Amino acid sequence: MKTIMPARTWPRDFVWGVATSAFQVEGAAREDGRGLSIWDTRCTLPGKIHKGGSGDVTCDHYHRYPEDIAMMRSLGVDAYRFSISWPRVLPAGRGKVNDAGMAFYDRLVDSLLAADIEPWACLYHWDMPQALEDLGGWAARDSAGWFADYSALMAQRLGDRVKRWITFNEFSVFTLFGYAMDWCAPGVVDRTANLRAIHHVNLAHGRCVDVLRDAVRDASIGAVHNRQVVWPATPSDADRSAAAMLDAHWNLAFPEPQLRATYPALLAEAIEPYVQAGDMAQICRRIDWLGLNHYGPIFAKADPTTIWGFAWSATPADAPIREDISWAIFPDAFRDELIDLSLRYKLPVYVTENGCGTLDTPDATGAVHDPKRVAYLETYTAMMHDAISAGADVRGYFVWSLLDGFEWGAGYTNPFGLLHVDFETQKRTPKSSARWYANFVEQARSTQADPAPVTPLQRRGVANHCG
Ligand code: FCB
Repeated sequence: MKTIMPARTWPRDFVWGVATSAFQVEGAAREDGRGLSIWDTRCTLPGKIHKGGSGDVTCDHYHRYPEDIAMMRSLGVDAYRFSISWPRVLPAGRGKVNDAGMAFYDRLVDSLLAADIEPWACLYHWDMPQALEDLGGWAARDSAGWFADYSALMAQRLGDRVKRWITFNEFSVFTLFGYAMDWCAPGVVDRTANLRAIHHVNLAHGRCVDVLRDAVRDASIGAVHNRQVVWPATPSDADRSAAAMLDAHWNLAFPEPQLRATYPALLAEAIEPYVQAGDMAQICRRIDWLGLNHYGPIFAKADPTTIWGFAWSATPADAPIREDISWAIFPDAFRDELIDLSLRYKLPVYVTENGCGTLDTPDATGAVHDPKRVAYLETYTAMMHDAISAGADVRGYFVWSLLDGFEWGAGYTNPFGLLHVDFETQKRTPKSSARWYANFVEQARSTQADPAPVTPLQRRGVANHCG
């Protein structure tokens, strides 16, 4: 394999950023006219959030965004990936606009620009307005239109200043966990609803791309996919079939229709009844880049009691994996995924999330040391460098997350922040990983170089049909 990036240099204009999402950090859940989302509802249900907790206050980013932006500035990042809370701007999901909610995103964007940090806005990070869920949520075909209208509203309002747009965050997680496994809102467990949701979310993505293209001059549009290799827990036929089905849901059900106008073979027949004439062309629209969220590999086992016949399996004892943080990690899988994704669809890739959860608390002096996160980030950025050297077209990297925040079903028990948040006082303390990242970014910026134009590896693979 030909090395195209000299050691320790990074491609010119590589984007270094941090990421959050609205429900996980904003708080102010009942303020200024915000409507309820499906996650507000889920947090009220017993047993759904580990040790309880909600998004009601979380890190109060809604009020403390100026301080958080100042922290980003001291990290020296180029970009901030955040999401827009649909029920904050459209409390019932459609119809009446909430001006106070819109004004919050104006302030946030203006403050970011003033700090020379590029806003990367994601339109959907899992928080559908409850009022729309009551009408069927993503299982209703109308959802594609609701989402297109909401996207148009945001594009018109922010498109003069926001150029980087993300349609959805992790399509497969919220459709699979939300409609088949009860790990995410809305907690429906129903095969038909899951299939319908997959197709309607794909349609919503395609319609959103059209809306953004129309409304935003020079828009740079991406979709964020979480992709992880799925390994069978054992070599048995049953586990291998389970892993293949989970792979179809997790890694293929969204990028394949969006970029190649086709559903993966294992799901195509089941989805067929919901596909209408013209749908596949509407889904497969030209986008500018792919976002990759990556944590660790998945082990799958057969489980006939579940609606898709698969279940997550514990990491096998002999797996070549380090489990010294909350989730199993396997850095090689990250490098391989970057190479595969870049070559498969021939689009630039941004790592839109990567990071790790560790529970580190202030010591007697108030300092927060998180050596495991530092080690993780060191290893994963080195793997990303290897991927680029091998020909992957990777253009940026966002750490998940800027802040400790609400981590969905894990509540507040698995914090990912570079900044520690004391939820009693809302005090932010940069962890050692924050200092590490600031130094790393500064160094990376001082060693920029132009990568070689096209390597033999880059010429391989299948192009997307929508490019
Ligand atoms: C991803 C989510 C993000 C965060 C990280 C840890 O799946 O997109 O919101 O919770 O996991």
